[in-house]
Amino acid sequence: MTQPTLTRLRRRLLRWYREHGRDLPWRRTNDPYHAMVAEFMLQQTGVGRVLPVYEAFLQRFPSLSTLVDAPASEVIRAWSGMGYNRRAINLQRAARVIVKEHGGVIPRDPARLATLPGIGRYTAAAIACFAFHRPVPVMDTNIRRVLGRLLTGHSDIEADAGWTLAEAAVPRDGARASAWHQALMDLGATTCSARRPKCGECPVNDLCAARPLMEGTESITISYAELSEAMPTLRVAERPQPKQQGWIGTTRYYRGRIVEALRNTKNGAMPLDELGPLVRDEYATTEHQAWLRELLAGLERDGLVAVSGDAVKLPE
Ligand code: ADE
Repeated sequence: MTQPTLTRLRRRLLRWYREHGRDLPWRRTNDPYHAMVAEFMLQQTGVGRVLPVYEAFLQRFPSLSTLVDAPASEVIRAWSGMGYNRRAINLQRAARVIVKEHGGVIPRDPARLATLPGIGRYTAAAIACFAFHRPVPVMDTNIRRVLGRLLTGHSDIEADAGWTLAEAAVPRDGARASAWHQALMDLGATTCSARRPKCGECPVNDLCAARPLMEGTESITISYAELSEAMPTLRVAERPQPKQQGWIGTTRYYRGRIVEALRNTKNGAMPLDELGPLVRDEYATTEHQAWLRELLAGLERDGLVAVSGDAVKLPE
């Protein structure tokens, strides 16, 4: 794509975002702590499920210091409904490091942010760009797919290639960079979806390198089959996958059930043999207690439970 085309693309997408961007609570604040909480939550959970938890979480922990001072059990409770509970522990650990080592001020530099617990390349870039308007590239799966299509005509590019494209495309001005990445996220969530892109509704369809896709199709939305025909290089990873398949019975599934059961008890410790049947229907002490203990040992290493003798609770 030539520079003038990229400039037009940016301008048009930014205008579209001003008019059609999603109104999300973490976009209305300029408190970096709020941005950090939102980005931890959005790492593995969709916007719809994050919204209610985000609002309640900030009511309960309105500042970095309230989060730092809270018992871990309360942070885990406030995470309910989103899964991947380790993020709650990491968020609190990151907040503690910020207080201890950065004077309570969230770092602005992505390299420094990336040294904090639970913050990888994406989250570091997102906090730097959205909270501090640093003109750094941000790349998540939506941005990768959208930039891949727009700039190269390919839907499923490697993560490294995604970062390279994000770097090449990022506006120099920080406020525009922030709006640009959020515009790409929104285009990916609404119009340029993985399976059924609505190219007919796309504000930049005439500039898109994947445009040949649209030609010869009558429908406004394009099915996966049409996509693969038009783009033979498309990888099978985008073929619709049955949801939840293979999830029940996994270690992650049982870990989630354990934490959920402990969340729902008052603060006291729960005997293992009371917990077992809540986690697994056919639980029998002789058969399954060793299995349960092993799961608990893993959860304890991650800071998600505290085991003492034959009982377990959320950590203080
Ligand atoms: N706005 C800022 N960060 C976002 C994210 N991760 N997902 C959706 N919208 C966002």
